[in-house]
Amino acid sequence: MQHAEITGWGKCLPPAVLSNDDLTTFMDTTDEWITSRTGIKERRICHCNFSDMAIVAAKRALAAADLDPAELDLILLGSLTNDSYCPNTASIVQDAIGATNAASIDINSACTGFLYGLHIGTNLIRTGAHKKVLVLGGEFISHYMNWSLRDVAVLFGDACGAVVIESSDQEVGLLAAKIGCDADAKYAIQITNLGSAYSRLSEEFLYIGWNFDGREVFKRAVKCMSLACADVLDQLGLSVDDISLVVPHQANKRILDALARRVGIAEEKVFVNVHKYGNTSAGTIPVALTEALEEDRIKPGDHVLFATFGAGLTWGAGIVRWGDRVNPLKQSDAELPPNDKTALEILEPHIKRYTARG
Ligand code: ACO
Repeated sequence: MQHAEITGWGKCLPPAVLSNDDLTTFMDTTDEWITSRTGIKERRICHCNFSDMAIVAAKRALAAADLDPAELDLILLGSLTNDSYCPNTASIVQDAIGATNAASIDINSACTGFLYGLHIGTNLIRTGAHKKVLVLGGEFISHYMNWSLRDVAVLFGDACGAVVIESSDQEVGLLAAKIGCDADAKYAIQITNLGSAYSRLSEEFLYIGWNFDGREVFKRAVKCMSLACADVLDQLGLSVDDISLVVPHQANKRILDALARRVGIAEEKVFVNVHKYGNTSAGTIPVALTEALEEDRIKPGDHVLFATFGAGLTWGAGIVRWGDRVNPLKQSDAELPPNDKTALEILEPHIKRYTARG
């Protein structure tokens, strides 16, 4: 059987930083509340399109794999904040990077979009249907934010990450995965007033709202991720001692601590960057994976455990056995369009729009 080795990885973080103190300039919150509840200190705000971030992440991942984009036969892009409903963002990426032979699919499963995509891409390679797949995950969630909602707006940030997976005879790549969905709690995270469920005649149409039951999400996240982790360990007959690093969805440091306790894994083995970027939804795992490689936290042959949850409530876990190479083959010079604005300057019209109505 063929396996799907991760041969390239890349991330794109927009440069504008929105700190907790910046949030206090227009919202009734404090750095102390945000830090103690979530571990988040700052997040990035995108000044361009979501696809610009995805294209940069894709080019960096392709350079790391030293792969000609024309060799890709599939692009899977996890996001809920696409440039447009039509065309899909995977097509925009396909065109921009010159992946002329790749089918292009968007996956809307919120924060789990990257792991869902990695699972699908890996299994398409296993069957022989595809050979070289680009899997992206990312979000331009600041665009979809209602800046009057302090319980939601402080949590998120913008970013995109990508990996290249290629058919391999070696037993490496995503060797086990368990994905699922607690749809009975689907309205615990809901973006409203956008989509065909909402009347176009309503004055509220396109005035984005969020229904968000943070406590319910917190409880479900810890339960579902820990059960999924136990499942994938069991599938491979491994124990937590065999795991070198956990690269989890970065939603909240307290969720990561609770997950580590439930799974029985040392906190030092859990990769954390939520303090720098907040919750970038589908972007968290590919960005964290790229940073873990940059920081030499992954060695050849390591078992890396992914765990994730998101709106839906979708959830999942996977174990990757890393291949021989932990360094990129090449570097890409791809960059985002220039930006000379601060995060608050970028957001100013949006903050005004939402805070004017309260
Ligand atoms: N600043 C100050 N106070 C706030 C803020 C804020 N930004 N937001 C809420 N509060 C207040 C509330 O009004 C409430 O006040 P009250 O008690 O007077 O009514 C109080 O703080 C709520 O505090 P807690 O209930 O103690 O908050 P909790 O510890 O549950 O933390 C949090 C809330 C951070 C949202 C937590 O529940 C959480 O992280 N949940 C998981 C959410 C998540 O990660 N979702 C990711 C999935 S999203 C996706 O997939 C797209």
